[in-house]
Amino acid sequence: MYYGVDYYPEHMPEERWEEDARLMVEAGFNVVRVGEFAWSLFEPEEGTFIFDWLDRAIVLLARYGISVVIGTPSAAPPPWLTAAYPQVLMVGANGLPLSPGGRRFTCPTNPLYRRLANRVARAMAEHYANNAAVIGWQIDNELTYGSAPRCYCQECRRGFQTWLQEKYGSLERLNQEWGTVFWSQIYSEWSQIPAPLPSGADHNPGLSLDYARYQSAANVSFLKEQLVILREVCPEHFVTHNFSSPMLDTINNFDLGRELDFVSEDTYPGLFQIIEHMAPGSAVDISPHAGPMMVAWGYDCMRGNKDGRPFWVMEQQSGPAGQTVFSSSPRPDQLRLWVYQAIAHGAQAIVHFRWDTCTFGAEEYWHGILDHDLVPRRRYAEVKQTSHEVQSLGDTAVSARVPAEVALLFSYDADWALAIQPSHPRLKYGAQNLSWYAPFYFANIPVDVIAPDTEDLSRYKIILAPALYVLSPETAQRLTAFVANGGLLITGYRSGVKEPNNQVTRLTLPGRLAEVVGAHVSEYDALYNQTQAVRFTQEHPGGLEEAACEMWADILEPTTARVLATYTQDFYAGRAAVTLNNYGEGKAIYVGAALASEALGQLLVDLATTEGGVQPLAQVPLGVEVTQRATGAERWWFVLNHTNEVQQVTLPGAFSNALQNERVEGTIALEPYGVRVLRPL
Ligand code: GAL
Repeated sequence: MYYGVDYYPEHMPEERWEEDARLMVEAGFNVVRVGEFAWSLFEPEEGTFIFDWLDRAIVLLARYGISVVIGTPSAAPPPWLTAAYPQVLMVGANGLPLSPGGRRFTCPTNPLYRRLANRVARAMAEHYANNAAVIGWQIDNELTYGSAPRCYCQECRRGFQTWLQEKYGSLERLNQEWGTVFWSQIYSEWSQIPAPLPSGADHNPGLSLDYARYQSAANVSFLKEQLVILREVCPEHFVTHNFSSPMLDTINNFDLGRELDFVSEDTYPGLFQIIEHMAPGSAVDISPHAGPMMVAWGYDCMRGNKDGRPFWVMEQQSGPAGQTVFSSSPRPDQLRLWVYQAIAHGAQAIVHFRWDTCTFGAEEYWHGILDHDLVPRRRYAEVKQTSHEVQSLGDTAVSARVPAEVALLFSYDADWALAIQPSHPRLKYGAQNLSWYAPFYFANIPVDVIAPDTEDLSRYKIILAPALYVLSPETAQRLTAFVANGGLLITGYRSGVKEPNNQVTRLTLPGRLAEVVGAHVSEYDALYNQTQAVRFTQEHPGGLEEAACEMWADILEPTTARVLATYTQDFYAGRAAVTLNNYGEGKAIYVGAALASEALGQLLVDLATTEGGVQPLAQVPLGVEVTQRATGAERWWFVLNHTNEVQQVTLPGAFSNALQNERVEGTIALEPYGVRVLRPL
């Protein structure tokens, strides 16, 4: 297994490198990632390439048996480049160019920037193609995250027009698909089409969604150009990219992932603490247990991204994290726990961010394994123990799959279209997905987060599709077939509302899902200060009798479905809110009411177990997580205590402790932030 650290030799005096390598090897590290922000060293002036400093660092690392992943440096171009070619700067949503000086401030479309980025990538690839210490490449850095995630420059506008031409073929068709007859927007030349910069009122939703798609495609094609070069010049090396948390993305992660040999994620569990402090109660539910859940979500997205294949963690938090303010110090054993959580969800390699804590630059407070004074302390000792320990698990464990019977469809179209027109100010697609995912996480039922165009759904027993706002006929058809063949589909309000062109469907909602769901939405109600609630029928799914409904209510008219809950208030008291339909061999459940999160969780998990036939891996106290990796008949269970208290965990059977060679069964006391890796006997 590859286990190592992100290393910036250029931030260290050269005399120190050997000591670094020695300490790394002592810590059990066998890989480093380097180079992704060193363009101004690699190409100090246009067309002059210098790699000798990195060559010397690599020779030294190789002498210590450490392999190297090199990052291409296109996330942070040198000052000479932006001074000579200011047209490469990204233009923000306010129409103003970004300033150089930070990073991620260039346009993904700009052909000149692409040429320059490709040229340095090619020079690096040619230089390192036959270097035995180099094993692979990371393209760019976190394309999926920046403070100005989309570019609105003239080059992007032109790129958008060309992209639209390819997509629609004729202006007649584009005018039709967007409905440009509204507000006098019928285009007669492609060059008339704007980027959605501030106008006197909202842009056409069709244009806005296509612009979001275009920007995503532009970034994917930016990455692809480097990918083609690396594959051509370094056919023996792997190529990956480090994704930031999939919640933040303006780039379709599935499209990006499809291109790569495997995907990588950057994980900072401590950051959720800062988010909570800055915005209590907002955006996402940051309860004390939500942090580990959101980290797990990130991993489950990564896994779903590549058909369940293992991924790398290219940056794993190693100390207090944050740029100007920072999170608490990871508690004793918490770094170890975070590493195991990544492995538990499908990681095959761990790379800590970062080796040292830099004394200069924008990330002086983003702590590495070593503190500013470079003294190895508690965190060094802990990652050292962890790296040796995880090696003892063996490579089979970290290349095994995480078997999931539940999949959650994550639609970037729905995400972007709901951002354009949320329907209700509090309706956020990411948060919707998390609130449907969380109950499964807390119940220890593994979930793959997958793309709506995933061809083969048959490996799953349950598909969750919350707020599947934009629905293509193909996805609707696949979901219908999934149910007809015996699966359980759980969907709900704001699904099937939009056609792929982002027009509202003329079909009665939930549009193309109405047949499989066996119910119609006869009316919907955005809730503000009203009180609304639902009462469950005698079946009492999840033991529920009543539950509050906030924000949204779809008033349902069952056609073939039976009613699981009805509204209790207002003019639609007594009307259906939640329904269950038998369809073919399977079932479809429609949750029309935005239930308060606890009730939603109880309902989903109950229906998943009673109607969907999935079972939690184990019943454990809140704050303890259980996952499994499996290959053939081999199994590894990961029992993770995310709390700072001892937790009593009752195991469902007898196991051997994979880390300590002992038999364990019955109830075990799991120390604060404790981990067990168990093999079922
Ligand atoms: C990541 C990024 C790294 C570093 C780290 C800490 O998002 O990829 O380059 O910035 O965060 O800020």
